Amino acid sequence: MTRRLSRQEVAKLGLYDFLGYIDAFDSPYIGGLEGTHRLIELLGIQKDENFRVLEIGCASGFMSCMIAKEYGCQVTGIDISEVLISKAQDRSNRMGLTNVRFKVADATQLPFDDTSFDAVFGVALVALMPMKDEVLQEFKRVTKPGGSIGTLDLFAKNDADEETVDSFSTTMKTLLEYDVAVLEIQNWRSIFERSGLDSIVIEEYYNDVLLNTRKRSGAIKATMKMVYHMIINGAVRKRMMKLMRLRKTAIMKDDEGFEHLGYLVFTGRKK
Ligand SMILES: C[S@@+](CC[C@H](N)C(=O)[O-])C[C@H]1O[C@@H](n2cnc3c(N)ncnc32)[C@H](O)[C@@H]1O
Repeated sequence: MTRRLSRQEVAKLGLYDFLGYIDAFDSPYIGGLEGTHRLIELLGIQKDENFRVLEIGCASGFMSCMIAKEYGCQVTGIDISEVLISKAQDRSNRMGLTNVRFKVADATQLPFDDTSFDAVFGVALVALMPMKDEVLQEFKRVTKPGGSIGTLDLFAKNDADEETVDSFSTTMKTLLEYDVAVLEIQNWRSIFERSGLDSIVIEEYYNDVLLNTRKRSGAIKATMKMVYHMIINGAVRKRMMKLMRLRKTAIMKDDEGFEHLGYLVFTGRKK
């Protein structure tokens, strides 16, 4: 069970730990359920108890548990955040699943032997990694020959002006506290094409990047928890105000929001 943290402990949580703690990752984020199902379809995940799937950056385990339940295959989810992995374990216990396991691990150094999995993927993960080529090679290392690799990630639309793309990147850098840029679709294509994978599919979606992605009740609960921690905790308040300001200036340019971002679904096969 994820334990209740003291005010001081909450103040010290990293961005993802904090978002996990307030249950902000309780349903698919980018691309919604539609994008998630398309990725599963392209990955060729099978209803076979010997089929082994690895999700990298699984957060609180929504997608890993969904695949384990719907497909009955063996699923492993890893994430760098201890809080999120504990939440993922809670979720799988609640759902009574015995075919999914979770582990704290770093995407750049996966604690698995070569050729361990039939399908390996990350959602909204590779975009956060400064060394994208290396991360994809690590995905590939743990994939069996003939197995599939996939990602679902945001990209900056080509009609976005340079200033907008730069402000997305500034937002990312400020939030993550390391240097990483938001890519345009042609940058992503080059990365996937030099990955050395076969049968590459890249699908681009230009609408509804974040629409219908969160169950309304879940979103309300997470927002209430966030407001509660902002009220009782000065350190959280400061950080969240900064995040909201950035979100408003750089991403949510108007009420429509996210008009300059699209999402892509990518898959390829290891030779
Ligand atoms: C934007 S969230 C996406 C979470 C989830 N895949 C989803 O779509 O809702 C990125 C996730 O990647 C995790 N993460 C960030 N850097 C990581 C790393 N180096 N290794 C493993 N996980 C990482 C974060 O903790 C977070 O859970």
